[in-house]
Amino acid sequence: MDIHSHYQKSAARALHLNLHLKANFENHTLSGSAIWDIESNGDDEIYLDINGLEIHEIKDDRGNELPFLVGEADPILGEALVISGIKNAKQIVITYTTSPKAEAIQWMEPQGRSPFMFTQSQAILARTWIPCPDSPGWRFTYEATIEVPAHLMALMSAENPQTKTDDGIYSFQMKQQIPSYLMALAIGDVEFSAVSDRAGIYAEADVIEAATYEFAEVEEMIQAAEKLYGPYEWERYDILVLPASFPFGGMENPRLTFATPTIIAGDRSLTALVAHELAHSWSGNLVTNATWNDFWINEGFTVYFEHRIMEAVYGREYSEMLAALSLRDVQEEVEDFMPSRPNDTKLKLDLEGRNPDDGVSRIAYDKGYFFLRLIEETTGRARFDTFLKGYFAAHRFGVMTTEMFLDYLKENLLSAEEWAKIGVQEWVYETGLPENCPEVHATRFEKVDEVVNAFIASGALPDSNLTANWSTHEWLRFIYKYNDHSEKTTAQMKLLDENYGFTQSGNSEILAAWWQPVIATQYREAYPAMEKFLVDVGRRKFLTPTFRALKESDQLDVAREIYIKARPNYHAVSRQTMDELLR
Ligand code: BES
Ligand code: ZN
Repeated sequence: MDIHSHYQKSAARALHLNLHLKANFENHTLSGSAIWDIESNGDDEIYLDINGLEIHEIKDDRGNELPFLVGEADPILGEALVISGIKNAKQIVITYTTSPKAEAIQWMEPQGRSPFMFTQSQAILARTWIPCPDSPGWRFTYEATIEVPAHLMALMSAENPQTKTDDGIYSFQMKQQIPSYLMALAIGDVEFSAVSDRAGIYAEADVIEAATYEFAEVEEMIQAAEKLYGPYEWERYDILVLPASFPFGGMENPRLTFATPTIIAGDRSLTALVAHELAHSWSGNLVTNATWNDFWINEGFTVYFEHRIMEAVYGREYSEMLAALSLRDVQEEVEDFMPSRPNDTKLKLDLEGRNPDDGVSRIAYDKGYFFLRLIEETTGRARFDTFLKGYFAAHRFGVMTTEMFLDYLKENLLSAEEWAKIGVQEWVYETGLPENCPEVHATRFEKVDEVVNAFIASGALPDSNLTANWSTHEWLRFIYKYNDHSEKTTAQMKLLDENYGFTQSGNSEILAAWWQPVIATQYREAYPAMEKFLVDVGRRKFLTPTFRALKESDQLDVAREIYIKARPNYHAVSRQTMDELLR
């Protein structure tokens, strides 16, 4: 039962989608038809999800017009599209146009640049551009024909072109069954560059070279992943680099990960995100959370898998730094949520009456990660790996609820003693972070912490030998730890900035971390750079903590002034969160 979809009200089933759309950059619409192969199962009605679509007409495969009804609009769920007269129909042909305000879609015509558009369907925004069964618990295959302005390329979560066509018409096939939240389309003046036989990069001309360098290790990551949990089932793995307004770090659209350009740091230091999206090719895309209440089934497994891939490629010392960052994130989130929304610290969520976006927190990701890591540490890695390989093989192209997973865990891995020792029930159904959360041993961070403490105690910069070999992660730890300190001064900030050039860093993670002490100490020299960052970048993970820090330090006026300039560049997903925060 998916509380976020109308689809289950009908017995009829939507099996295959044939999408025909024309992209209109003048009025920001997609227009055409969605043809669904259906099985009525004796029912005369089918319920699909829509949100803001203009439905022109609906016919069956013999050309008969089908009566339909659009339900009342719910601010979160959109509307039910109820189509009747389908008992003997093999197909339904829905002719429609999207709204220029469709929340999944961002249309861009930046000055002096080529137009660009992309969709972001997760969690329940596919229904703003396709009439569909919009539940992660239902899978279908698809094909599509997309018409775009002739100098642009269209790409989907499907078999993709590598060169532009002359007429701007592109055809796509997705032979594997996927849930609707993995439907994706992007249109832009992009080029392709190969990394290996089965992996490559799509990006606009001015970033393709840097992106190809940055992601050159992706083939190694695929091989590491396959060794852990079985064959890669999607044939190709490509990455599309989007404009900086993309609201997420990455989105695991099958065959074509969508990625923010903010992970191109020049030194491959932020590629854990690629490992993460790649890992979703198993956890999420192959075995999918049945509902958004089971979101940790997607993200917790994926963070665990991400760290395992990074460990295999870069070593345990490196992956333990990532784990330490995860621990910090989940501890902060628990502390933040416990007073006002304790139930959101449970792995199994209850999002009744709420937007599934409310469930997107570090809990699913990092509490989920530590739960799985605790299982690994309890059974030993060999047993856990065998179990996980079997789990993916047994449930491939299927859905998974929290309860199905726990049953499978009981039957195939844990003894009664191990189950009790882990406290499975508490981890999944209780609030907070249990006492027996695994410990992280990030030796490189322990050294950083000593350096920070010495700096704070003495006010003198650390010896350059101590920091000479630091990676991005160690610098991030340095900034976080410094920011934790209550007596920060602008003089210290200036000293740090003059020596390490944080304000001018080309690394988006460092910048986003740095804005915290910048705001706390009101280190004004950095405000213009911070404003530029907030205007250029639409990645919610960076925007939320920065705007929140301004708000919570009595600088709401500064926040609003910047937001007014930045908002037009943001995707609807980021706008919605910031509107609420800065209201
Ligand atoms: N699938 C998520 C993004 C997402 C989640 C979009 C929920 C909409 C609703 C993606 O795999 C993800 O987790 N991205 C992270 C990166 C990751 C390294 C933690 C992000 O965007 O920050
Ligand atoms: Zn993810």
